[in-house]
Amino acid sequence: MSNKFDSIVIGSGPGGYVCAIRLAQNGHSVAIIEKNKNFGGTCLNVGCIPSKALLHASHVYEQSKNEYSKMGINVKPSINIKELLNYKEAMIKSNTDGISFLFKKNKIVSINGSAEIISNNSVKVTNGKNIDTYTASNIIIATGSTHNTIPGVDIDEKHIISSTGGLSLDKVPDNLLIIGAGYIGIELGSVWSRLGSKVTFVEAFDKILPNTDDECGEYLRKLLEKRGMKFILNTKVESVKKEKNALKINLINATDSSKSILTSDIVMQSVGRKPYVEGLGLDSIGLKLDKFHNIDVDKNFQTSEKNIYAIGDVINGPMLAHKAEEEGVAVADIICGKYGHVNYDVIPSVIYCDPEIASVGKTESDLKEEKIEYKVGKFPFIANGRAKVNNQTEGFVKILSDAETDKVHGIHIVGSDAGNLIGEAVLALEFGASSEDIARTCHAHPTLTESLKEAALDVDNMAIHK
Ligand code: NAI
Repeated sequence: MSNKFDSIVIGSGPGGYVCAIRLAQNGHSVAIIEKNKNFGGTCLNVGCIPSKALLHASHVYEQSKNEYSKMGINVKPSINIKELLNYKEAMIKSNTDGISFLFKKNKIVSINGSAEIISNNSVKVTNGKNIDTYTASNIIIATGSTHNTIPGVDIDEKHIISSTGGLSLDKVPDNLLIIGAGYIGIELGSVWSRLGSKVTFVEAFDKILPNTDDECGEYLRKLLEKRGMKFILNTKVESVKKEKNALKINLINATDSSKSILTSDIVMQSVGRKPYVEGLGLDSIGLKLDKFHNIDVDKNFQTSEKNIYAIGDVINGPMLAHKAEEEGVAVADIICGKYGHVNYDVIPSVIYCDPEIASVGKTESDLKEEKIEYKVGKFPFIANGRAKVNNQTEGFVKILSDAETDKVHGIHIVGSDAGNLIGEAVLALEFGASSEDIARTCHAHPTLTESLKEAALDVDNMAIHK
């Protein structure tokens, strides 16, 4: 095998593997370097895919316990945690195998080992005692992110865990305290709550999911409380100490600095993630980071060093797999002389709890801050025929459109299947739709999507079923 390529991609998460495939489609000889034994990065191995496997399975369990009998289906479900974890592992394998297949199909050379960039066109790869050097005209860094840490909270992945440990607990803990009510906390907290844990969240902000539309976040918090989860807001965790039979958690109130103590069997820390650049040798080649320790890139994803590009969680922006994928395709096209772009105004976000929250575009707070006048259209799922027969009537669709032009600025959905429903909203924003465009579009009956049309009609108080 030659050690010379047109492009080398470092990291095989959604940003890196998609970038490698697009480079190969564009005619480049491509090598991808991955230090883990499986391809797919955080998303496939310890992120999106395993968490969604657990969310799906625990949702079915909860429904079979609480909802099936309403439809005349009588079952007595129980949880076999070993089998549940096996199911999760099988889902990871089926997805990572898919990437191996795509690499072979696209003639992408995969190299197992840790990459260190030693010049603008060469990379040293270490795998145990083996060290090899590879050269390329372009190097793309797609090494992702790792979890943030809090001083005073030492993760051992047994009792004090990160989200990685939170995907593999071998028994359902009686109590689970989660530091941070963000994306990871809410999703994994939902899993273990459904399986029987008493889940308590400690959140520094005075609301959950701080970047989500306030009304949606507050609505969700109330529902999760009804489901038995507890939220301690406006409070920070100072430290976690291991005592004989439990963990002691020291809390401090963010407003008045009053202190309190809680105990729990397990503590999971989910307080955000930071770019992962360890061992890449960025210092020695003089590659610049910004003030948030992201790799600094220009509009073409070019770093401060010629021929070296960066995408995904290591650069600025939301740490989302689909954002990284978009950047992977864009940088590959730019490198190959084509037009590549990412529309950062139209990147959806989804939190896969029950009900789901999905958003695209601006929130009401954004619009107020930017002094943009807007109209609101809202439609509750309780008035949607399909939601009724599915027995999934919680939540609503909210459309925010410009007061003057009617152009849609943002769409926010809380409800069952919001993550799939947001697809239409993303397309609407990408095409610059007005709420009237959505309202005039025929939506199939009976589907949840009719709620989008109704919310669009409601922007001008013309909803039919409200
Ligand atoms: P996050 O940024 O979503 O939430 C972290 C939370 O921790 C914030 O609410 C913050 O106020 C709180 N916090 C920080 N320090 C604290 C302290 N000392 N005490 C109490 N609370 C504290 O980060 P998270 O949940 O760790 O997720 C990391 C990233 O992973 C997210 O930015 C997201 O982009 C990505 N992700 C995406 C998912 C999806 O798309 N469905 C699912 C899971 C993760």
